[in-house]
Amino acid sequence: MTRHFLTDLDLSPDELVQVLDLADRLKAEPYALGALAGPQTAAVIFDKTSTRTRVSFAAGISALGGSPLIINPGEAQLGHKESIADTARVLERQVSLIIWRTYAQAGLEEMAAYSRVPVINALSDAYHPCQLLADLMTVRERLGSLQGRRLAYLGDAANNMAASYLLAGANAGMKVCVAGPQGHLPADHIVAAAAERARTTGGEVAVTTDPAQALAGAEVVATDTWVSMGQQEAAEPAETFADYQLNAQALQQAADGAVVLHCLPATRGAEITAEVMDGPASAVWDEAENRLHAQKALMAWLLVESGLAADEVVQWVRQEVSR
Ligand code: CP
Ligand code: NVA
Repeated sequence: MTRHFLTDLDLSPDELVQVLDLADRLKAEPYALGALAGPQTAAVIFDKTSTRTRVSFAAGISALGGSPLIINPGEAQLGHKESIADTARVLERQVSLIIWRTYAQAGLEEMAAYSRVPVINALSDAYHPCQLLADLMTVRERLGSLQGRRLAYLGDAANNMAASYLLAGANAGMKVCVAGPQGHLPADHIVAAAAERARTTGGEVAVTTDPAQALAGAEVVATDTWVSMGQQEAAEPAETFADYQLNAQALQQAADGAVVLHCLPATRGAEITAEVMDGPASAVWDEAENRLHAQKALMAWLLVESGLAADEVVQWVRQEVSR
């Protein structure tokens, strides 16, 4: 059965650890695995702009021995002259992976429903699960473990990153608290799904309008832009989020040695101050680099689990993840 990665919960807790272990392994030895040797082509489609996602997928596909086919916004027939289903029917015959940054989560689900090859969510309005693989990898590097670690997210708690922190954090057994202003809190179904997963992992999820509540004891403090892509016209004035800025005063309320994350791009002086982003607690550049390693691991893992990888690739991956 083809495995897709459309939301953070598309990996079980055990599978998440497998992908993170594989990512660590590929960070140590970047060219050890030719999962896309051939070279096989992987389509990377963008309906929204990108720096990190574009570069990390292109570099990662190349490092796995494959060839990235980058399709920029407006370049394909997809979405205006051709349906998602028909696009999937064409792509799955010619590429080994479909990686897509788009608006509606439903579009990704439709693409996956018609594709024999794995479909990866490279950010939607609802979730950013590839980013969370990199974030969790970074937290493991800095703190040594994920289970039971407290993570606070401050800012637009209704956006894709907040949803992914809740889901992926719960999946990893973390204690996640997201804080944002009234009107910018996560949808009930996201919180319920995260809470359900947390019950199986020993994690916890909480939502609050009080940043101090989220920050108390937090070992990881994360934020994201106050205006996400596609939401510029409905953007709130910055004052709406002012109490949720990740600044030195906020960081002081977190645990000693807390790690700062931001998926980037950041607006210094808005959701995060330059002092914090460029300061000693910040792990944002490791986090950006880890997109590469985590996504390579994810691509290889999905191909193996979908029965689409060569025997030697299957053997290599199985050996690494069973350690
Ligand atoms: N964090 C992230 O996804 O960055 P890009 O929008 O530059 O890809
Ligand atoms: N919430 C942001 C994340 C960018 C990587 C957005 O969707 O624009």
